[in-house]
Amino acid sequence: MKIIRNPAKMTAWSREQYRTGKTIGLVPTMGYFHEGHLSLMRMAGRRANLVVVSLFVNPTQFGPNEDLSAYPRDFDRDRELAAGVGVDVLFVPDVAAMYSSWEKTTVIVRDLTDHLCGADRPGHFAGVATVVTKLFNIVQPDLAVFGQKDFQQLAVIRRMCTDLNMGIEIIGHPIVREADGLAMSSRNTYLDDSLRESALSLSRGIDLARRLAGAGERSVKQLTIAIRAFINSCPETAIDYISFVNDRSLHDVTVVDEETVLALAVKIGGRVRLIDNSYVLDGS
Ligand code: PAF
Repeated sequence: MKIIRNPAKMTAWSREQYRTGKTIGLVPTMGYFHEGHLSLMRMAGRRANLVVVSLFVNPTQFGPNEDLSAYPRDFDRDRELAAGVGVDVLFVPDVAAMYSSWEKTTVIVRDLTDHLCGADRPGHFAGVATVVTKLFNIVQPDLAVFGQKDFQQLAVIRRMCTDLNMGIEIIGHPIVREADGLAMSSRNTYLDDSLRESALSLSRGIDLARRLAGAGERSVKQLTIAIRAFINSCPETAIDYISFVNDRSLHDVTVVDEETVLALAVKIGGRVRLIDNSYVLDGS
């Protein structure tokens, strides 16, 4: 596996591959790999001839009170894990290589970024859309794989790609879960045993909604009451949002249908903010 740190060298490598007729799949990441990331890399490997993984903890998507400096990092471990699943290039630029002090351009995807995680994290999705655009321009992939756990991020990137005619296929990978249902996340490393138990309130809240909807309940008001009561009954949980939204517009809905996604954000132990989501109806 090649390690490339310089954006111009990354672009040159991609162009070289295109000359030999190879396709390239990109998996953008912020590192500290877990099984979820590795699944995205394997999927990229099934869909393209060559896999590039970018590892860049992007400062512009963190707010002033967020955990940029505390974001977990372990380059040696990441390098081994990526090599182990057959990644061809690990692209690891530093901040100075990605951003100059002269930058005047930000990519803003309107409307989709106003609520859910965007409501509490102003500027977050502009940071994501801008860095993903830069990564796409540098790596020039045919396709890119993103996890469905960051459901709003995936919707924003799909919209951006379509609106800006980027011509890159965006593939969503299903959420990868621990055996007990907890959605895999780099942030799970902040949870001790008792907080980890509390963190299960998200996946269990989703299971509850799916069970109730499966039994015929379609009212978002009633479903929200049930999930709120359940999550509040779990220790060390503070609900950030419980939202039932249309999967493409991300607008709130009042009645559940096949396009409805339940998205949750819950703070565990006062500081670890976790998200999870799922379609509400089976087969949707
Ligand atoms: O999902 C992430 O890890 C990040 O938001 C991404 C897409 C790599 C952009 O920094």
